[in-house]
Formats: sequence, C-alpha cells, structure tokens
Amino acid sequence: MKESNLKNGQALTIRTAKKEDALNLINYINKIGGESDFLTFGNNEFDISIEKEEAILESYIDAENKIYLIAEIENEIVGSLNYSGGIRQRTKHTGEFGISVAKKYWGLGIGKELIRYMIDWAKEGNVVRKINLRVREDNEAAINLYTKLGFKKEGIISRDFHVDGKYYSSIFMGLEID
Ligand SMILES: CC(C)(COP(=O)(O)OP(=O)(O)OC[C@H]1O[C@@H](n2cnc3c(N)ncnc32)[C@H](O)[C@@H]1OP(=O)(O)O)[C@@H](O)C(=O)NCCC(=O)NCCS
Repeated sequence: MKESNLKNGQALTIRTAKKEDALNLINYINKIGGESDFLTFGNNEFDISIEKEEAILESYIDAENKIYLIAEIENEIVGSLNYSGGIRQRTKHTGEFGISVAKKYWGLGIGKELIRYMIDWAKEGNVVRKINLRVREDNEAAINLYTKLGFKKEGIISRDFHVDGKYYSSIFMGLEID
C-alpha cells in the first residue's frame, strides 16, 4: 500500500485489489468504458459475474508475475492497473499491463503513481524483467505518460482498434526491468 497527496491536495491510496473489490471494480470498469475511446471496451461492455471477477482477483493475490492495483480516494475507486506475465518458464518474465483513471481525476498524477508502483514491485521481485503495453497511436496523454516513465516504442500494430467504424493502429511500448 502507498499513500500520497495529489496535485489538488486530495489523499490517494494505491493498493493491491482483493476479492471483496469485485463489485466495485465491475461498476468502475463499466463506467470508465463510456468515458474513453482509448480503452478496449466501451460503456457497460464489461459483462462479468461477481463470482468470475472474484476468481480473477484471487488469481492475482500473491502471484509473482501478476498484479492488480487499485487507486482510491476516500474509499472510491478512481483508477486501476493490471499486469499479467506469461504462464510458462520462458515467458513468465514478460507481460502486458492496462491502465485507466476515472475522467474526473485525469491529470492529477494518479496514472503516474499507479505505473510507478508496478515498476517498483517488478524491481523488488525476481521474476518480472519486461513490462509491455499497447496504446492507440493517437492517445497522446498516455504516450506522454509512458515515455516520461521510461517506456520505449518497439513497434506498430495495425488495425488494433475498431471504434465507430474506423480502424486505429496501436504503438507497442516496453520497459526492461533490471
Ligand atoms: C492515460 C491515463 C491513464 C493517464 O492518467 P492520468 O492520471 O490522467 O495521468 P497523470 O496525471 O499521472 O499524468 C502523467 C503524465 O502524463 C502526461 N499527460 C497526462 N494527461 C495529459 C494530456 N491531457 N495531454 C498531454 N499529456 C498528458 C503528462 O506528461 C503527465 O505528466 P505531468 O503530470 O508531469 O504533466 C488517463 O488519462 C486515462 O485513464 N485515460 C483513458 C484511458 C486510457 O487512455 N488508458 C490507457 C490506455 S493504453
């Protein structure tokens, strides 16, 4: 767990998710899907039962190459990040993460705090040695954030998104952990 103060003075808590967060997380994810075209899901598209979500969250607990983070302000979920590494010996050191922050709280440093927490966790452990992500090529805010934290562009994936009848490429970015 990590506590810090945001640019606007509000207290932010970053912590790993637990089984009991399932319902609040489902509601959070369904809400943010409608707030951004840069996510892989839209409004109310995250159709999953609480039991399934609980099982997913449990699979992250104490895992050496998976982490599910929640950002909270006054017990409300305002952001989340999840990283998942490979299941086999040859790929368990590498994986991809996804991140979101509720629109009302964009630009306050929450995204940066979530990613820093993940990087520190990876450095402290002995397993994760590569962190990857895919970002829509026109998602300037996110690309700035990743670049600022040391991620490098590694390639382009064409037609990775299909939103409102239009295709978009993604940029593949990565960070080596030493
Ligand atoms: C991308 C996202 C996670 C960033 O989170 P955030 O909490 O708003 O970002 P932060 O406040 O931590 O900003 C960190 C850095 O990102 C960059 N950044 C953030 N918003 C920006 C904007 N609107 N324009 C340009 N750069 C921006 C800046 O470099 C900023 O650094 P600074 O604080 O030193 O100026 C958030 O905007 C979001 O959830 N967007 C919708 C979903 C999404 O795009 N997810 C990522 C998919 S790959």
